[in-house]
Amino acid sequence: MRLMSWCAALAVMAAAPLPTHAQTPPPGRLLASNCFQCHGTDGRGPGFERLAGMPADELYDEMLEMRAGKEGTGLMVKHSMIYTDAQLRLIADWFAAQPRLTSR
Ligand code: HEC
Repeated sequence: MRLMSWCAALAVMAAAPLPTHAQTPPPGRLLASNCFQCHGTDGRGPGFERLAGMPADELYDEMLEMRAGKEGTGLMVKHSMIYTDAQLRLIADWFAAQPRLTSR
């Protein structure tokens, strides 16, 4: 009997919803994680241009310009090409909402 109630308790635990931190991150962060290898985790550097806290419209416009080939032929042209406008918007909004650390 005791074993049965343990099994019942485990079944209830397994069916319980996951804690909040284990849920899917916002889509902007998932897309933005592709930028972390060069711009630092969460866009906080070290690396190229610190993206954390960058105004969303500025980041979005720069990505569009790079995607359109108006900024030369650097690395970022290829990186910007793989995103739709809506995805770039999500990425820009997500980076803009990140605190810009001043220590580095
Ligand atoms: C493989 C490395 C790499 C990855 C990945 C990468 N970047 Fe960059 N990024 C660079 C380099 C290098 C520069 C500076 C030179 C240049 O503009 O090409 C740069 C510059 C930038 C700039 C500044 C452009 C300017 O004209 O001032 C922005 C904005 C930017 N990246 C956004 C992003 C975003 C958003 C992502 C993810 C979608 C991303 N980058 C992914 C390497 C990378």
